[in-house]
Amino acid sequence: MAQIILAESAGFCFGVKIAVDAAKKAGEELGGAYTDGPIIHNKQVVQFLESLNVRELEEGQQLKEGDTVLIRSHGVPPKEERRLKEAGVNVIDATCPFVKKVHEKVRQLVEEGYFVVIIGEHKHPEVIGILGHLEESGGKGIVVSNMEELIKNLPNKKRIGIVSQTTQSEDFFREAVGYIAENTEEVKIFNTICDATSVRQEEVKKIAPNVDIMIIIGGKHSGNTNRLAQISRALNPNTYHIEKADELQPKWFEGKERVGISAGASTPDWIINEVVERIKEITK
Ligand code: F3S
Repeated sequence: MAQIILAESAGFCFGVKIAVDAAKKAGEELGGAYTDGPIIHNKQVVQFLESLNVRELEEGQQLKEGDTVLIRSHGVPPKEERRLKEAGVNVIDATCPFVKKVHEKVRQLVEEGYFVVIIGEHKHPEVIGILGHLEESGGKGIVVSNMEELIKNLPNKKRIGIVSQTTQSEDFFREAVGYIAENTEEVKIFNTICDATSVRQEEVKKIAPNVDIMIIIGGKHSGNTNRLAQISRALNPNTYHIEKADELQPKWFEGKERVGISAGASTPDWIINEVVERIKEITK
């Protein structure tokens, strides 16, 4: 049997735990709730929560007074939260405390007169929420998702404040901060990448170069899982990103002795366990 090295940080992060527990509670005690988009980027968990009547709002669906809406760990723009409350909707706020910290830092930077650069993915719900706080506090800023974009769009401002989407790559953050610092008179930086993300990325960097094959488990639409897979692939080309155990192919493991495994922040333990068991079976 191959030796399996499972990253200690693999599995639900603290923020996802809060959101999934809140969703379960809403299902069990309130008879259900709506979420604006999947509660986490993991199909299997979403299906389980649907069985408790916690489901995504459909396009164009109108909320009624007394309905319950759960705000996901990514958070929402403040305008959206107000709109829900004013409509008499019962709001459960499961925004991750690390995401709330980004909102606070953006407001602080605006108050202090900085132009804000958000290092993140344009359409990600977390970034949309952060932009909502920027707009509400009367600030100006841009979102950059790669170096090319940063170099092309960095405006000529004297004072720039930087924050990051919580699940960004540490390497990109460092590179972007370096470039902005070189080209701006005054820079204020808040590294708002959450601990769960940095610990996970560091662990993958340690494991990937020392194994024959690396398996990254998590939703195909999960940004943090995709970044783990990218980091791993750069260090070990035998990297496979899967959502669940039945995607594992025995031929990947031929002649492989050491198997590394990590998983995104929205991957539940039971899916990780199934993958571990399946790999044991394949490499028996
Ligand atoms: Fe929160 Fe970080 Fe998880 S921001 S939701 S602890 S990945």
